[in-house]
Amino acid sequence: MKVCTTIPEARAACRDARARGKRLGLVPTMGALHEGHLSLVRAAKAQCDAVAVSIFVNPTQFGPKEDLSTYPRQLDRDCRLLEGEGVDILFAPPVEEMYPPGGVTWVLVEGLSEKLDGRSRPGHFRGVTTIVAKLFHIIEPATAFFGQKDAAQVAVIRRMVQDLNFAVEIVACPIVREADGLAMSSRNAYLNREERGRALVLQWSLQEARQQFDAGERAAAKLISAAKEVFAGEPQVVLDYFEIVDPDTLDPVERISQKTLVAVAAYVGMTRLIDNLVLNP
Ligand code: PAJ
Repeated sequence: MKVCTTIPEARAACRDARARGKRLGLVPTMGALHEGHLSLVRAAKAQCDAVAVSIFVNPTQFGPKEDLSTYPRQLDRDCRLLEGEGVDILFAPPVEEMYPPGGVTWVLVEGLSEKLDGRSRPGHFRGVTTIVAKLFHIIEPATAFFGQKDAAQVAVIRRMVQDLNFAVEIVACPIVREADGLAMSSRNAYLNREERGRALVLQWSLQEARQQFDAGERAAAKLISAAKEVFAGEPQVVLDYFEIVDPDTLDPVERISQKTLVAVAAYVGMTRLIDNLVLNP
C-alpha cells in the first residue's frame, strides 16, 4: 500500500494506477475504521482494479461546538486494516495540505444542504461537499463509494456530481450493523455501557415504522407518531429528527407511494447518532 500525505504524491500514485489501465475506486473516510468502512473498501475492491482510501478528519464539516478535537484518530491501526484489505493507495494528508491559509472557495449544494442533518448541523454539508470535491479532483476516481448510513450525504453528493459534471460514478453501499442492530459508527466509541444500550432506540423506532408499513400503513404522519412513541419509552435519548422523505430531494412525503427514506437522528448523552431505512412499496 502506497501511503501519501501530500497532494502531489497522491496525484502521482493515482495517475500511475490510471496509466496502467486500472479503473480507480475511491473510499473517502475520516478514519477510526470499522466494518462499515471496510465494507466500502471491499465493494471498491470488487468493482475496481485499484482502490484508494482517504483518511482525513475534515475540520470544515464540524460545527464550532462539535467533536472535532475528540474525534477518534487511530492512523496506525487504520493503516494495518487497509493493508489487510489489499488497498493500493492511502491518502492521509495533514490539515494544512487540504486547507492552506487563504482558501476562500466553497462547494455548496443549495437547499439540500439544509435538510435533515444539514438543518441540525449548519455548514456541515458545505464542508462535506467541499472536501469531497477536492478529493475527487486530486484522486480522479472512476467510482467513489459511500455508505447508505449517511443517506443525506449520499443525496447531497449525487446532486453535486450531477450539477458540477464530475465524471465519477457514485455507489451507495448498505448499512453495516452490530449484532444487536446498532448501525456501526466511529462515534459509537463515545458511548458508555448505559448509553450503548439506549442507543438501540434508533433502530427500534425504524423497525416500528417498518412494521406499520408492512401492515399496510402508507401515511407518513402515522409512521412518524408510532416511531416517536418508541422514543417516548427512552426519555434519556433526545430525538433530533424522525423524518420520512424523498431519498433524492430529502423533502418530506405525506403518503408512501414510491421508494422512500425513513431517517432518524438522536442524541444519546452527548453523542449524536443517525440511522435510516428505505421503504419500497
Ligand atoms: P466517515 O464518517 O468516516 O464515513 C466514511 C464512509 O463510511 C461514509 O460514506 C459513511 O457513510 C460510511 N459508513 C460509516 N458507517 C457505516 C456503516 N455502518 N455502514 C456502511 N457505511 C458506513 O462520512 C464521512 O466520513 C465524511 O463525511 C466524508 C465523506 C469522508 C467527508 O469528509
